[in-house]
Amino acid sequence: MAEHDAVEVIVRKRDGGQLSDSQIDWVVAAYTRGEVADEQMSALAMAILLNGMSRPEIARWTAAMIASGERMDFSSLPRPTADKHSTGGVGDKITLPLAPLVAACGVAVPQLSGRGLGHTGGTLDKLEAIPGWRASLSNEAMLRQLAEVGAVVCAAGAGLAPADKKLYALRDVTGTVEAIPLIASSIMSKKIAEGTGALVLDVKVGTGAFMKELADARELAETMVALGTDAGVRTVALLTEMSTPLGLTAGNALEVRESVEVLAGGGPADVVELTLALAREMLVAAGVTDVDPADRLADGSAMDVWRAMISAQGGEPDAALPTARETHVVTAPGSGTVARLDAMAVGLAAWRLGAGRARQGDPVQAGAGVEMHAKPGDTVREGEPLLTLHTDEPERFARALQALEDGVEVGDAPYDAPPVVLDRIG
Ligand code: URA
Repeated sequence: MAEHDAVEVIVRKRDGGQLSDSQIDWVVAAYTRGEVADEQMSALAMAILLNGMSRPEIARWTAAMIASGERMDFSSLPRPTADKHSTGGVGDKITLPLAPLVAACGVAVPQLSGRGLGHTGGTLDKLEAIPGWRASLSNEAMLRQLAEVGAVVCAAGAGLAPADKKLYALRDVTGTVEAIPLIASSIMSKKIAEGTGALVLDVKVGTGAFMKELADARELAETMVALGTDAGVRTVALLTEMSTPLGLTAGNALEVRESVEVLAGGGPADVVELTLALAREMLVAAGVTDVDPADRLADGSAMDVWRAMISAQGGEPDAALPTARETHVVTAPGSGTVARLDAMAVGLAAWRLGAGRARQGDPVQAGAGVEMHAKPGDTVREGEPLLTLHTDEPERFARALQALEDGVEVGDAPYDAPPVVLDRIG
């Protein structure tokens, strides 16, 4: 006979009660085995979204999700390990320059990444724009690449936190993604199971992020930092700005191109600033304090690791990147200072142009996306190019333009730029 009953667990949370350790262990394991039905887990996820969970409940839920699968172990590596996780934003290509940069500073970076769903892009989709590059690696190949190259960005294997894979797909279609206990346990179960020694979280705040308000982002960051620290992972979080896209590109190949510019010593200032801020946090968390990552960008060693990292996974670092067949230029609606270029509007436009997918498993267009010629604070003249939209299918332009309709403002007022990094927790 089962230890608990799904309805009893749902009712306890529905009525605002605390779940016991054994209820949590049972419901997560039974759901993973298929003994708790999707509709029951949906009801429980909604009850958690509406009534919350205490910190001890979240910690137990996270532990149960870790226990649903394997744990990786990088302790045989001669260098310390550090990973970064972003809660997702528009134009957030930071992993691409960051992983090789931190490896060039002497810290191994095991970066298990995901694919994009909805308006935020996925790191694996971006790297797959590089001809030949493969996202899937066995655990042995991952360890070998970490030892030889120092950085690996790849897909999480099926064995890692399978409870989260199932639950995340369910949350996605039941309006239960935005629950802080579920986001925190989802992210941290994967990161703790991955076995990294140190973790830096980039928690995005703003229109293009899950968390629109600073207070919510802070609560999510504090919850995740506590989960990581309690599990023995040195964890810190930066709260960073996501009201406007990062950099000047949103879309897979477009973002790879911009990341390579950063590795070559150029690139947009906000991308460089955030890459360096996260690299410094990762190095300190991993115990490396005598290297300045800015030097490793400047002397080309981060670029050398990038090339080795791409080649090790079958990619051709020198191959031409795919470009979209069609482009459409959006011009400035007036003269003045760009006051707003909304992250959600640009993310939706890039998605509708074909850079993202509507359903898991849909293909993405490597060349599709939005290129920005001006950002908030820049002065523009009426009729000047503001954005270039890229897609293989010109019938997509109309819906992308609709997404951008209320997302762009040009005015006379001086622009007060928010900082890239809003706060630090940990
Ligand atoms: N990313 C995750 O991995 N899980 C969530 O719940 C949200 C973002």
